[in-house]
Amino acid sequence: MLTVESERELRQKIGAWRSDGDTIGFVPTMGALHAGHLALVRRARELAERVVVSIFVNPTQFGPGEDFEKYPRPMERDSGLLEREGCDLLFLPAVSVIYPEAHSTVVDPLGPAEGLEGDHRPGHFRGVATVVSQLFNLVQPDLAVFGQKDAQQLAVIRRLVDDLHLPVEILGHPTVREEDGLALSSRNGYLSADERRAAGVLHRALREGSRLIDQGERSADTVRAAMRDLIEAEPLAGIDYVEVVDGHTFQPIELIHGHVALPLAVRIGTTRLIDNVQLEVSD
Ligand code: PAJ
Repeated sequence: MLTVESERELRQKIGAWRSDGDTIGFVPTMGALHAGHLALVRRARELAERVVVSIFVNPTQFGPGEDFEKYPRPMERDSGLLEREGCDLLFLPAVSVIYPEAHSTVVDPLGPAEGLEGDHRPGHFRGVATVVSQLFNLVQPDLAVFGQKDAQQLAVIRRLVDDLHLPVEILGHPTVREEDGLALSSRNGYLSADERRAAGVLHRALREGSRLIDQGERSADTVRAAMRDLIEAEPLAGIDYVEVVDGHTFQPIELIHGHVALPLAVRIGTTRLIDNVQLEVSD
């Protein structure tokens, strides 16, 4: 596995692969890799001849007072995991490569970026869309794999690629979970033992929402309220939002039908966790 920090080196290597006719699969990450990230790498490996992974803790997608400084950066461990997974190139840009002093252009997504994470983390999706646009232009992948764990982000990226006519195929990968259903996240490491136990409530709420819909419930209000009740019964949990939205636009719906997502954001102590399920509901 090659590790590359500069734009020049990256373009050289990618150019050489391209002229050999190799296809390129890309997985952008912020590191602190876990089995969820590695599943995306494996998927890219299956679909493309060359796999590029980036690790860049993107400052512009963190708000003031969020965890940018304390976000884990276990670089040697991450590098070893990627090597074992058959990643061909690890791109590790410095902040000055992505945001040089004169940097003045941002990508500001609307539509699915509005509401939910967009409301609770103002500027977050502008940071995500800006860095992902740059990474796509640098790596020029044929395809990129994103996790459904960050379902609103995935919806934003799909719109971005369509709206800006970017020549990259976007693939969503199912959420990888712990045994009790907790979605793997680089932030789970912040949880104490008690908090880790309490964090199981996110998945229990999603299961309850799905169960109600499977049983024929079609009122979004009823499903939202049932999920809220379940989370509020956990003393260590505080709700940021629990929603029922259209799975493509991420806008709230009243009547449940078609492609639907149940996204939620819950604070366990000081750690903010997000999760969701997506359902196809036929009437
Ligand atoms: P990060 O949180 O490191 O996630 C990188 C990718 O891994 C994202 O596509 C995310 O959805 C996916 N992922 C995380 N946990 C997962 C899980 N349990 N199962 C499956 N996939 C999972 O998302 C970001 O970084 C950043 O916003 C980024 C896109 C890199 C832009 O900075």
